[in-house]
Amino acid sequence: MTIKAQRGTKDILPEESATWQMIRENAQKVFQNAGFGEISTPVFEATELFNRGVGDSTDIVNKEMYTFCVGGADKNSSSITLRPENTAGVVRAYIEHNLNRISPPQKFWYFAPMFRYERPQAGRQRQFHQVGVEMFGASEPIADAEVILTAVEFLNSLGLNDLTVELNTLGCKNCKNAYREAIKEVIKPYLDEMCDDCKMRYEKNPLRMLDCKNDTCQKIFEKEEVKKVILKDYICDDCREHFETLTGYLNSLNINYKINKMLVRGLDYYNRTVFEIKSENLGSQSAVCGGGRYDGLVEMLGGQPTPAIGFAMGVERLYAIINKKDPEKLDYYIVSTNTSETIKLARSLRNKNKKVDYDFQGKKFSKQLEKASKVANFALILGDDEIEQKFYSIKNLTTGEQVKVFNIDEL
Ligand code: HAM
Repeated sequence: MTIKAQRGTKDILPEESATWQMIRENAQKVFQNAGFGEISTPVFEATELFNRGVGDSTDIVNKEMYTFCVGGADKNSSSITLRPENTAGVVRAYIEHNLNRISPPQKFWYFAPMFRYERPQAGRQRQFHQVGVEMFGASEPIADAEVILTAVEFLNSLGLNDLTVELNTLGCKNCKNAYREAIKEVIKPYLDEMCDDCKMRYEKNPLRMLDCKNDTCQKIFEKEEVKKVILKDYICDDCREHFETLTGYLNSLNINYKINKMLVRGLDYYNRTVFEIKSENLGSQSAVCGGGRYDGLVEMLGGQPTPAIGFAMGVERLYAIINKKDPEKLDYYIVSTNTSETIKLARSLRNKNKKVDYDFQGKKFSKQLEKASKVANFALILGDDEIEQKFYSIKNLTTGEQVKVFNIDEL
């Protein structure tokens, strides 16, 4: 029996890698231009980091973590988890390496695999990749605008211009509590009808109930008196001013956004600004990007009180909307039957940073040219005449034009 890739995992094949590389290169360019430095943290961390960081009212912690014990029955055995997201890991690294010594804001970006034991479907995998940024040390609304702008600029660099930014504010410790209590009170009479997850969230993090996809729960949120509470503004003056200043920046930057009061995000650490960027071309898993402010997380994980904000995007979802499957072409395919000259020529060109390949199997010229037209932009022909008279024939495989070149430096 053949062994297949695990459910919810995918191989990334060479024909897909050009688009993957393009996504990574654009991320590097856009993020580094905005002052973000790349950070890579380990794929696994202490389980406790996610229990505390992501939060125990979340699906991620309750149902989706790849957790295992290492060290067996040994008293030093410890529980580790494959990271389901990267914010907690970056915060851990930020504290561990005293990155607050750099003058604020400290800005980091990453591109890395994540793991969630979810029910696989289009746009939802068990191993997937996130590209994202985290910024520490800035509490001002301009920082929120900068992070959202960075996300939008990166998406624009990929040619993705018709996406919707959804925005909400969850308020701060003070006003969040008033909102939570109001929601608890209005939901209380319906609690018995709600799903088990919402019953648990009701106790641990009532705002997260609004994220529930269960039909019965959704109908309860649509009831007149419940909706009134959800839509009412509970945020304090400071939080209102923060949000209004942010939307002012977004207006001045011509960033299209839509306020969505139901947007609460699936992780526990957020306060104030939260946002998602959605694409209509992705079906039910429409979010390409999720992010927000998490001003309490650094302190909660043992660091100094530090405001922070960031986002992450699903690379597979970006790939699905870019949907280009062009294999990357070689610069030259050498067409020759003289293998010893060919291998030397390939070496020189590759050393000049050209992408070059050639035939190993002694195929006829016509077959080699056929292959060249599929895989390369130019055929570099090295026949008997060329070798005798010391020149190269270069054929443009798009236009069919052919020229003679006497020195490979002229290529
Ligand atoms: P998240 O919303 O859980 O946020 O994930 C961010 C993005 O990762 C989603 O919008 C989606 O595009 C992608 N994604 C999530 N789960 C899957 C999956 N199973 N399969 C494919 N793609 C997926 C976070 O992870 C936060 N750490 C974002 C953040 C950074 N907030 C502040 N800083």
